[in-house]
Order: sequence, then structure tokens, then C-alpha cells
Amino acid sequence: MGEGMQNSRVAGRSAIRFRFRGREVELAAFAPRTTLLDWLRIDQGATGTKEGCAEGDCGACTIVLVRRRGGEVSFAPVNACILLLGQVDGAEIVTVEDLAEGTILHPVQEAMVEAHASQCGFCTPGIVMSLFALHESASVPPARDTIRDQLAGNLCRCTGYRPIVEAAERAGTRAGASPRWWGCDDAGGDLFVGRDEQFFAAPDSIETLAALLVKHPDATLVSGATDVGLWITKGLQDIRKIVWLGRVAGLDAVSDEDGSLKLGAGVTLADALPLLREIHPDLGEVMRRFGSVQVRASGTVGGNLANGSPIGDLAPCLIALGATLELRHGGVTRTLPLEDFFVAYRKQDRRAGEFVTSVTIPKLAASDQFRAYKVTKRLDEDISAVLAAFRFEVVDGRIGRARIAYGGMAGIPARARSAEGFILGARLEDEKSWRGGLTALALDFTPLDDQRASAAYRSLVARNLLKKALMEMRGAPALDLRIAAPRPLSQAASPS
Ligand SMILES: Cc1cc2nc3c(=O)[nH]c(=O)nc-3n(C[C@H](O)[C@H](O)[C@H](O)COP(=O)(O)OP(=O)(O)OC[C@H]3O[C@@H](n4cnc5c(N)ncnc54)[C@H](O)[C@@H]3O)c2cc1C
Ligand code: FES
Ligand code: FES
Repeated sequence: MGEGMQNSRVAGRSAIRFRFRGREVELAAFAPRTTLLDWLRIDQGATGTKEGCAEGDCGACTIVLVRRRGGEVSFAPVNACILLLGQVDGAEIVTVEDLAEGTILHPVQEAMVEAHASQCGFCTPGIVMSLFALHESASVPPARDTIRDQLAGNLCRCTGYRPIVEAAERAGTRAGASPRWWGCDDAGGDLFVGRDEQFFAAPDSIETLAALLVKHPDATLVSGATDVGLWITKGLQDIRKIVWLGRVAGLDAVSDEDGSLKLGAGVTLADALPLLREIHPDLGEVMRRFGSVQVRASGTVGGNLANGSPIGDLAPCLIALGATLELRHGGVTRTLPLEDFFVAYRKQDRRAGEFVTSVTIPKLAASDQFRAYKVTKRLDEDISAVLAAFRFEVVDGRIGRARIAYGGMAGIPARARSAEGFILGARLEDEKSWRGGLTALALDFTPLDDQRASAAYRSLVARNLLKKALMEMRGAPALDLRIAAPRPLSQAASPS
């Protein structure tokens, strides 16, 4: 055990422990930045798991982590290319090589064969693993939309999704508990692999986490690693001190009381999705389109906010709702309005050694109207060009309080304070009274201008989204932002 944790806690472990190929593995020495994919392919020669993009996008590297917690067994499909090896502590790793028993294929593999869905050797292992996770965890045969969502993080470049969806339908679900994959118990205790200059640590309590970060304020915090993983694979950063938050007891706590939802920083995006959808369906849709099943299984609420990206999805939604953030440094806890956390491009109000513990989100009152829209080039698994969120209190047809927040419009996610001022008192029935608010948006932002969208496009979209929200709140049918699918050639107008 390294000195760092010894100072703050006596008991602990100096090796990660997980299950692989039916046996328990302990590793006491590895570079903290090692990805699971490199360990599988280079150290273990397990080349069934492929490397496509090495940035969490294509799904070729999908493996499944089986965890057992409180008697429940979960099957999480994750991108091994951006997952750190240390993050498998307390899990069973299942790769494509594990599914068949001798010559007997797993039902998903069988269905892939029957539906002629195995098209190329790069995508197929990842696709099989995504469908395996669905097969093992779904309690009822999945609907088409569920299957499509499950496959959103597996990019097939030959566009042959129809037989793959058909295979998922044929495979159905496992009835009852799996006899073969039962996960692995977390061995408990603080974990510290390495020495003070280079380590992978995973404290098991908030107190030891706080103490460890006071001692190592320069350590990199890792939650799901869906951002940090890319610093390693694309940024080639040699990160030497890593503190993983995935085992901190209570950091993934959820409480729902007094009209507020409190989400611990470690709550995964997958777990946050249904809770946010309960606040408003638009939040559910933003979350459904957040990354992919793989990204949502690993990525966390705290990571998305702490990352401070100007195009992160949660920040504008939660700023519009009026959320507050809680942070802790050593024994000191403080809270602040979420919008005040974002200071400048990639600069947050967070001192070294401080960490986000939770975010508290006020729910909507009966007089509140809310809308949130994510605009991207591709519908699924794409980062926002613009994300707009609106919370208006509407009394007797007039807007009382207003909170308008955008992502993608500035170097930070931010409120549109001028537009908020001008929209106050506007009557929903009277489009002319919206004009001040729509025009004032130009005072609020100098939008980003990059490969994702031009500044002019973003300004226009931001204005149109405010108008769309007001129209929908007035009672107009919801406008579909999706681009209509091209008509089949047979239906296209014949040339005259
Ligand atoms: C393919 C792909 C698609 C994506 N799609 C989207 C998308 O649609 N929308 C979107 O918003 N993002 C998207 N992302 C980005 C990413 O998934 C999210 O930002 C995610 O929420 C990050 O969470 P994480 O737990 O993985 O963070 P990590 O990568 O672990 O950490 C991110 C940052 O936060 C810090 N950090 C983490 N936890 C804490 C804490 N508790 N306190 C203080 N600092 C902390 C880390 O040090 C790091 O700086 C995508 C990423 C990928 C790879
Ligand atoms: S290799 Fe593309 S998601 Fe991992
Ligand atoms: S299955 Fe690999 S490109 Fe379609």
C-alpha cells in the first residue's frame, strides 16, 4: 500500500482485484494510465475486442462489466478504449471470446448468424457485446426503439443495421439469473496501487478521498473517464497520479425530497436518465441522446459538470432549472449556484484538491413551464452544437420568473440574462411581446465559431429555439427538430 493512503487510513489494498475468464485476478503493478483495451489486447492477447477510433465513439471495443451490488447483478457495456484498467476493480470482465461455450454459441451470436447480421470483423464483436448486455439485463423482450438506443454507440460504416436489429429481436432476453456470469464482489477498503509519485488510488469513503486530495492536490480525478480517457488516447498525456471516484461510498447517492432532486457526483448518466426524465420529458430526451449506452454507463453527472465543457449537455439544463453545486475540500463543504461555477473557458471555481460532491436540482412547480433542446449534426451520439434550456413561471398567461441557459454559445455554459430581462412580463398569446427577448439574445452571447457550427448558425438556432419554446408553451404542437428522412426513390417526384 502506498504512503499516501497509509497516512489517512490504516486498512487498505495495494492491488486491484477482478474476475476474468472465470478466475480471480490481482494486479499490484501497472501504469495508472493503462487502458483496459491495451491490457486486453497487448498483455492478454485478447484481440477479439477491437480498436477502431480509440475515443469512445465507434463501439468496436465494447466489453461488458458485470458487477454485483446488494444482491443485484448489473451488465454494463463500456468502451474499453477509454476505460482505465484500474476501473475494473470489483467487476467481472466479459469479452466476445467468453460468450460461446465450446461450439455452442450464445443466443445473441446464434441470432446474429441466423439474421445474416455479421458483416465485418471490426464492428461485429462490439455489436455482439452491446446486444449481449441487453440480452442479459432486459426483463422483457426489447422494443425496436430500445434496440436502436442500445446500438447507437456501435457505428457500422456499411450501414447494415436492419439485420442487426433483427438479430436483437430474435435473441430476446435471458429469463432468470445468468448461470455463467455472476460478477465479482468489491473487496472493500481503500485501494492504492503504486507509490507517491505514480499511483492509481480508489478510496472507499468521502473522508479518505478528501484527505488523499489534500495530500495530492495535483492528482487527476477520474470518475467514468469518458473525458479523461481521451486525454490519454488522443492527447497522449502521461497522467501519473490518478484518483478514481468509482468506489467512494455515498458519492452515487440520490435523494428526492422537498421539491428537489439531489444527485451525487458519482451517479452515472444511465442512472440519472430516468430521474431527470421524471422532472421533464425533454430532459429525458436530452439524456437519451447523451453519448451512447456505453458512454452513459461509465460517464457521471459530476464528471460532466466538473469538466466545464462549453458544450456539455447537463450544465445548461441544470442552470435553467436553478441547480446548486456542492464541493468539498478537506473537511470544508461549500455550495454555489451552478452558473457561478463556470468562470471562463475551461476554468471553473474549483481549487486544487477540491471535488464536486453533489448537485441539487429544484423540481418544477405547477406554474412552471420547461423546455430543453439539443441540436446536433447527427441525432444520436453527437456533441451539441447548441443546447438551450428554458424555465419560465407563467401566471395568468404572463411570464413571471425566467431562467434561460445555453451551451455552445460562449466559452462557458451560461444564462442569457439580457433575454431573461426582456422576456419578463411577455404574454404567451402575444408573439409581439416576445420580440424584445428574442432580439436581446444577441446582447448575451458571442457564439463559438468552429467545425461543429458557425457563430452565425448558432445565433440563429439560439433565437429560433427560444421562439420554439414560447410557441410550444403557448400550446402549439411540439416542433420536430429532426431532419426528415429522405423519401425512398420510388416515392420521389419523377422528373418532368
Ligand atoms: C463518444 C462520446 C460521446 C459523448 N457525448 C456527450 C454528449 O452527448 N454530451 C455531453 O455533455 N458530453 C458527452 N461526452 C463527454 C463525456 O461523456 C461527459 O462529459 C461525461 O459526463 C464525463 O463524465 P465522466 O464521469 O466520464 O468524467 P471523467 O472523464 O472521469 O472526468 C471529467 C472531468 O471531470 C473531473 N471530475 C470528475 N469527477 C469529478 C468530481 N466529482 N469533482 C471534481 N472533478 C471531477 C475530472 O478530473 C475531469 O477533469 C461524450 C464523450 C464521448 C467519449
Ligand atoms: S475503439 Fe472506438 S469506441 Fe473504443
Ligand atoms: S459491420 Fe462493420 S462496417 Fe458495417
